[in-house]
Amino acid sequence: MPDKPIAFDAYETLATAYAAAVDTKPHNAYYERPATLSLMPEVKGKRVLDAGCGSGVYSEWLMKRGAEVVAVDASPKMVELAKQRLGSSFDVRQADMSQPLTFLQDSSFDVVLCPLVLEYIEDWRATFAEVYRVLRSGGQFVFSVSHPLHDYIYFKSNNYFETELVGGEWRGFEGVRVYMPSFRRSLEATLSPLTEAGFCLERIVEPGCPENSPLLKIGGNRHASSFVPRTGGPPVMASSQKCPQRPRHLSISFLR
Ligand SMILES: C[S@@+](CC[C@H](N)C(=O)[O-])C[C@H]1O[C@@H](n2cnc3c(N)ncnc32)[C@H](O)[C@@H]1O
Repeated sequence: MPDKPIAFDAYETLATAYAAAVDTKPHNAYYERPATLSLMPEVKGKRVLDAGCGSGVYSEWLMKRGAEVVAVDASPKMVELAKQRLGSSFDVRQADMSQPLTFLQDSSFDVVLCPLVLEYIEDWRATFAEVYRVLRSGGQFVFSVSHPLHDYIYFKSNNYFETELVGGEWRGFEGVRVYMPSFRRSLEATLSPLTEAGFCLERIVEPGCPENSPLLKIGGNRHASSFVPRTGGPPVMASSQKCPQRPRHLSISFLR
């Protein structure tokens, strides 16, 4: 890899704890994943790229539903954990999504799925050009990212319009503490590179907290209570608050 991705060290440190928590961690299991998966098409028999697969929770969901999955992740530890989860023959490679994915052929996927990864990439144009290249015409690009409104408030930004490097300490994974850098950006900076790459917006989900959400039974948004923004001060959402009162993530589907 030419330059290490900004969150490379953080995810190498966090990988094992992330893998242990991701199936049941409320924020992932009851908030981000249901929203993102609600945008997925029927995947049986389809070829899907899990871009930034982590320890493989989405890849497993796809494989159980009959998809043919290829996965990539920048973190060698995550790649190893994904293999442990899905078997040594699982097609997962170490690759940086900000660089050309030369080992993937043009128009070779029906769906590209990329949850919770793009925050770690500054310039999305090259990434989206590659997603566009590997998707067949009519193929679907589904991803989730931090919500621009949430990040703007949470990181106490002084300029909504700037794409800026932010970060904070993550404490919610089995006692592992890690400084997690990411890029915060506006809604326009989130959507424009996609339309510029040639994609057409299909659907957006801003997940809220429905009345029957399991988050209500858990008694606290543990993710919110375990994250301290770099700028200091208490998290904007109090740990006693059971459900997010504004969207934490945005799940989006685009068509090629
Ligand atoms: C929050 S995890 C999400 C993993 C998985 N998509 C999930 O939802 O469980 C973020 C993942 O993005 C990967 N990642 C970060 N920067 C990356 C990059 N530039 N290229 C590829 N993967 C990257 C990390 O290694 C990590 O596995």
